[in-house]
Amino acid sequence: MIVINSIEQLKIHLISMQDQKKIIGFVPTMGALHAGHISLINRAKAACDVVICSIFVNPTQFNDLSDLDKYPRTVETDCRMLEKANCDIVFVPEVMEMYTEKELELKRQKVEDKSWAEGKRIDFGPLEKVMEGAHRQGHFNGVAQVVSKLFRIVQPQKAYFGQKDFQQLAIIKSMVKQLDMPIEIVSCAIIREPNGLAMSSRNERLTAKEREIASIISKTLFMIREHYQSKQFKELMADAEALILKESSIKLEYLEIADAETLQPVNDLNKGKNAVACIAAKIGEVRLIDNVVLY
Ligand code: PAJ
Repeated sequence: MIVINSIEQLKIHLISMQDQKKIIGFVPTMGALHAGHISLINRAKAACDVVICSIFVNPTQFNDLSDLDKYPRTVETDCRMLEKANCDIVFVPEVMEMYTEKELELKRQKVEDKSWAEGKRIDFGPLEKVMEGAHRQGHFNGVAQVVSKLFRIVQPQKAYFGQKDFQQLAIIKSMVKQLDMPIEIVSCAIIREPNGLAMSSRNERLTAKEREIASIISKTLFMIREHYQSKQFKELMADAEALILKESSIKLEYLEIADAETLQPVNDLNKGKNAVACIAAKIGEVRLIDNVVLY
């Protein structure tokens, strides 16, 4: 496995792979890797000739600076895990490799910088106005900014994203379509702890007891999945809220059932349509998200 820090070095390796017509699979991450990330690497390994993983804690997608500071950084352990998973290349750029000072200044001033769209009028429309988009100002613009840059550098045929970030997946699919990028976006299942808690780099900031408490998030989602076909919508939502709020140390940000395509809230479960139940909640200062699809 090769670890590369500069775009220039990475491009040298990429050119020879492209010349050999290798299928490149790409897994973008922010590090602090766990079995969820490795499942994406495994999916890519099974379908591609070369697998590239990036580790970059992207400053432009954080709306809260202390969250950015506290984001776990464990590059050495990450590289060991990636090596074991037979990843071929790890790209670990510094912030100044990915961004110009001007771009960072715009972020500091909270100006939504759309220059990553290179003149195209990209619009995520209602997709970015709900749930994570509504609660984290500028978050998806930062995600699209860094992922479009990474896609232009790596030029993969396939890129792998987890359903854990359901809305992010929808935003990336929309971005690739609007920018006409010839990249297949592969969506991968959520990997969970034995107690049901969705794996997340942020779980590292929870104590063992908090991890147990946090499992109420997935338990609530599983309860919704079990009963959505039999219970009335209002009753189901009231039961779900009551269940999660039994844990007094959990602060619920939202509990929403949305259309799986448009992500707009639904107020009744039309059996013909796919839906997704989504939760964002805080335990102490740690914000967690999770979802289950209701097909
Ligand atoms: P990060 O949170 O590190 O996640 C990287 C990828 O791993 C994402 O596609 C995410 O959905 C997936 N993932 C995380 N936890 C998972 C789990 N428990 N099961 C399955 N997949 C999981 O998402 C980001 O980084 C960033 O926003 C990024 C796309 C890299 C842009 O900066």
